[in-house]
Amino acid sequence: MFDINQAILAIDHAETLDALEALRVQFLGKNGEITLLMKKLGQMTQDERSSFGPLFNGYQREANAAIASRKTALESAVLDARLANERIDMTLPADAAPKGSIHPVSQVMDELAEIFADMGFAVATGPEIEDDWRNFTALNIPETHPARAMHDTFYFPDKDAEGRAMLLRTHTSPVQIRTMMSQQPPIRIIAPGRVYRSDSDATHTPMFHQVEGLVIDRGIHMGHLKWTLETFLKAYFERDDIVLRLRPSYFPFTEPSAEVDVGYKQEKGRRIVGGHGDDDAHAWMELLGSGMVNRRVIANCGLDPDEWQGFAFGVGVDRLAMLKYGMDDLRAFFDGDLRWLAHYGFGALSVPTLSGGISA
Ligand code: PHE
Repeated sequence: MFDINQAILAIDHAETLDALEALRVQFLGKNGEITLLMKKLGQMTQDERSSFGPLFNGYQREANAAIASRKTALESAVLDARLANERIDMTLPADAAPKGSIHPVSQVMDELAEIFADMGFAVATGPEIEDDWRNFTALNIPETHPARAMHDTFYFPDKDAEGRAMLLRTHTSPVQIRTMMSQQPPIRIIAPGRVYRSDSDATHTPMFHQVEGLVIDRGIHMGHLKWTLETFLKAYFERDDIVLRLRPSYFPFTEPSAEVDVGYKQEKGRRIVGGHGDDDAHAWMELLGSGMVNRRVIANCGLDPDEWQGFAFGVGVDRLAMLKYGMDDLRAFFDGDLRWLAHYGFGALSVPTLSGGISA
């Protein structure tokens, strides 16, 4: 004989949701004990039905209610267990040694951005896939100019929609063009990024990094250029005895142009930047190219060169990293050797700041 109290007791003591479901099937499923009782009502007389009907309906209601409340209890127990299990104590100290490191190139680019931000420079970017107009023509390097051959350019087989040859930019100077064409002077930007030339040995890799600098304003002259470079290099190398020598040079996009040398001293096979290159212990090393932005370049970008002048410079980021942090083979920068990265890499939290120290 079916006993509702036994049934309720069993439901209240179901240990798991699966066990509860089995009981539901046992009592209320298609062939469940209560379901079969309900089916019997059909064969009963009117009198029997009026007394057993409410009784069996009551069984059904009570069993359903007991199952629903047990289900809620079991589900919240499951959730509590999961929450307890997945609890993370955020106040515990990190116990694993941090894996991975910031590549010196990324670190140096962050250092440069920080130093130049302090002088009011914004960071500008351009695509690594450029067209030959921005990479060459607009920079006053016409089709027949030997500089095009000198750059050992990687070209793409197809031209772009405007019929311009597409290439991997050979320097960051096209960002000068993009910036002058998209914003009004005064302009003060640096543009760090990857550049490509078909060239490879211990000091050249087919991909390397440059940072471009560009200032466009009224009345800008070489004095501004020299002060900016001096201030930048003192902050970057974190020493005051940085001495620069500007040598006349030639770039199609600057006029006049200057190659900038910095005094250094040879120490244990390493070049230490600093000091005057003309005394006995020191020599000069070529560091970067620069000059006053050529009037033609300013005009090519739709600005009036009688109103706006400026200076530009370009420097190798990898080279800057090697000089500061003492690596001697450029190729190792791009080998992805974990031992090299562990040795020369930077912690993710050592963010360069002027207040905390550029190379912290
Ligand atoms: N773009 C030149 C190079 O790659 C460097 C440069 C930049 C020189 C800006 C002058 C002014 O060699």
